[in-house]
Amino acid sequence: MTTPLRMDGVEVEVPDGATLLDAARAAGVELPSLCHDDRLRPAASGRTCLVQAGGRTVAACVTPAEPGMTVDTVGEAVRNLRRDAVALIASALPPHALADASLSELAQNNVQGASDIGALPDPLPGYGPVTDPAARARAEAVWGRAVPPAPGLRIPEMFEAARKGRLKALWITGEDACATDPDSRRVAEALDACPLVVVNELFLGETARHADVVLPVASWLEKDGTFVNFDRRFQRVRAAVRPPGTARSDFAVVQAVATAMGSGVGCPTPAEALAECAAGRSRLRRPLTRSSGPGGCCALALPLAGQARRSNPVCR
Ligand code: FES
Repeated sequence: MTTPLRMDGVEVEVPDGATLLDAARAAGVELPSLCHDDRLRPAASGRTCLVQAGGRTVAACVTPAEPGMTVDTVGEAVRNLRRDAVALIASALPPHALADASLSELAQNNVQGASDIGALPDPLPGYGPVTDPAARARAEAVWGRAVPPAPGLRIPEMFEAARKGRLKALWITGEDACATDPDSRRVAEALDACPLVVVNELFLGETARHADVVLPVASWLEKDGTFVNFDRRFQRVRAAVRPPGTARSDFAVVQAVATAMGSGVGCPTPAEALAECAAGRSRLRRPLTRSSGPGGCCALALPLAGQARRSNPVCR
């Protein structure tokens, strides 16, 4: 069985289950697919393959082709979005990386940093397993609070739990899940099924359209902090312009919500948060090295426990 659709005015038929990226290839349309590899499960993190399909902007590599779909890969709006995606990836790299391509970036910004710092369901900061009593004890000594011993849910598990009525609230930040997660229709179903969905966003994108509350947040040009790339290089950013209107940084939004709920998070600025990480790392027993990269960027390397790590030569 095949699926007929129309891409840039050209009729094309692809096998059932094919993605829009497959359809583009079948139609001879050249579509950038920076983070896609046919041998791997789609990551959909680069967003260089954005297209307009059925009135929505979607990542072609994870969007299934549907019968009769009309797809636009060349319109000015979608080309600008793809250009912005590439610019965002490039902006997080030091200049030499663009020349030698020795570093790679995950384009959902700071996925690596968030993972390193423990924003995952099963590892603690520095990748100690939450199921390991010794790792929990180290974290509890830093935080002064008990750490639950059971892992939380991964993103697909959260969406599944929401669809089944078991997840009551979702707070999404730094990601347009409907555009980047596999099977966007099922993601949208999960968001609609969840009683409370809060989204931090710059624009009223597809995920924000399914939210109960949208909190306007600043772009990377409008805030201070650090992003960590795939080589574990901390890249310092500084606000170039003020956020528009009432938008705040994600950091400030988390602070404000924590304060409103009667609990400060203990580090009022990004600099103090990074200082807390540096202070806590010796107690978490993760070796941390520091050096200066080109252009004055601050580079910190966080090796994984028990693994020999070869950093980029500039980091050494
Ligand atoms: S190829 Fe990277 S998001 Fe589609």
